[in-house]
Amino acid sequence: MRTIKLGSSSLEVPVVAVGCMRINTLDGKEAEHFVRSAMEIGANFFDHADIYGTGKCEEIFAEAVQMSPQVRENIILQSKCGIRKGMFDFSKEHILNSVDGILQRLKTDYLDVLLLHRPDALVEPEEVAEAFDLLEREGKVRHFGVSNQNPNQIELLKKYVKQPLVANQLQMSITNTTMIDSGINVNMENEAAINRDGSIMDYCRLHDITIQPWSPFQYGFFEGVFLGSDKFPELNAKIDEIAAKYDVSNTTIAIAWLLRHPAQMQPVTGTMNLERLQDCVKASDVHLTRQEWYDIYRAAGNVLP
Ligand SMILES: NC(=O)c1ccc[n+]([C@@H]2O[C@H](COP(=O)([O-])OP(=O)(O)OC[C@H]3O[C@@H](n4cnc5c(N)ncnc54)[C@H](OP(=O)(O)O)[C@@H]3O)[C@@H](O)[C@H]2O)c1
Repeated sequence: MRTIKLGSSSLEVPVVAVGCMRINTLDGKEAEHFVRSAMEIGANFFDHADIYGTGKCEEIFAEAVQMSPQVRENIILQSKCGIRKGMFDFSKEHILNSVDGILQRLKTDYLDVLLLHRPDALVEPEEVAEAFDLLEREGKVRHFGVSNQNPNQIELLKKYVKQPLVANQLQMSITNTTMIDSGINVNMENEAAINRDGSIMDYCRLHDITIQPWSPFQYGFFEGVFLGSDKFPELNAKIDEIAAKYDVSNTTIAIAWLLRHPAQMQPVTGTMNLERLQDCVKASDVHLTRQEWYDIYRAAGNVLP
C-alpha cells in the first residue's frame, strides 16, 4: 500500500489505517484471521483507544496478533486517551495511568503514536507537556497527536508541549464534509459557510499535521453507512458509476475520494470484514480526477456557490 510520512515525523505509515474500535464484535479466531490478513496486505497501522470496549479491544488485538517483539517490529500502534466516564481528562496523572494501561493491554512497551482523544474543557497544557516529556523520556511513546481538536486548541497545547503534534483524528466522510464546506463557501449567508472548526483542514496542512478521517463510511454520528443507503440515491448512483469505470467496488471509491484530497489524509476504517478492508486498501491505487471528486461532492447534496 502507498505510504505517507505521518505529520512532520519520519514515521512512514500506510495511507489507510485499521481502526480497532469494533474488533470486539469478532471472536478470537476471527480476530486473529482479520489482523494477520490485514498485515499481509500492508495494512499494519492499527488505531486503538483505551475506551474501545472499555479496554477489551486492545486486549483482543494483542491476543489476535500474538504479540511478540518480532510482531511488534512489523506493526505501527496508535492509541488514544483522555475520555473517561462522564468527563474528559487531560491531567498528567490520567494520561500517564492511561498509557500504562494501554501498554499492558497491548502487551508492548511502547506506542508509536499517542493521541489525546477529545478536547478536555479543563485542560492544563503545562500538565500535558509534563506527561508527554515523561512518556517520551521513558520510551513509552514515540510520537504525539490529538483528535477532534481545532486550531486554537492545538496552538494552546503547542505553547507548552515541545514534541511535534503529528496527527489530528477528525470525523470525515463523503457525507460529513464540514471541514471542506466552509472553505468553499467563505463569507456566504448559507449554512455551508458556517465555520465549525476554525479552518482545521488548512491549519493542519500549514502545520504538517496528518488528518486521520474517522468513520469514513458513516453519515451523521454513527447513524449508518451511506453506501447502498436509500437516503443517498444520487450519491450512490454517482459512486457506482465511477466504481464501474475503475472496475472497483463502491467501498474503494469512498476511500479514494478522501485520498484524492491533497491534504494527504490517512483515513481510519472500521470494517472488520476482510474483503471490505481489501477494497479500502485498493483505494491507494485509484486516483480520481478533479471532475470525479467534485461530482461525488455535489452528488452528496453539496451545492457549489
Ligand atoms: N477519534 C475519534 O473520536 C473516533 C471516533 C470514532 C471512531 N474512531 C476510529 O475510527 C475507526 C473507524 O470508525 P467506524 O467504525 O465508525 O468507521 P466506518 O469505517 O465508517 O464504519 C465501519 C462500520 O460500517 C460497516 N459497514 C457496512 N457496510 C460497509 C461498507 N460498504 N464499507 C465499509 N464499512 C461498512 C462495517 O461493518 P463490517 O465490519 O461488517 O464491514 C463497520 O461496522 C474506529 O475503529 C476508530 O479506530 C475514532
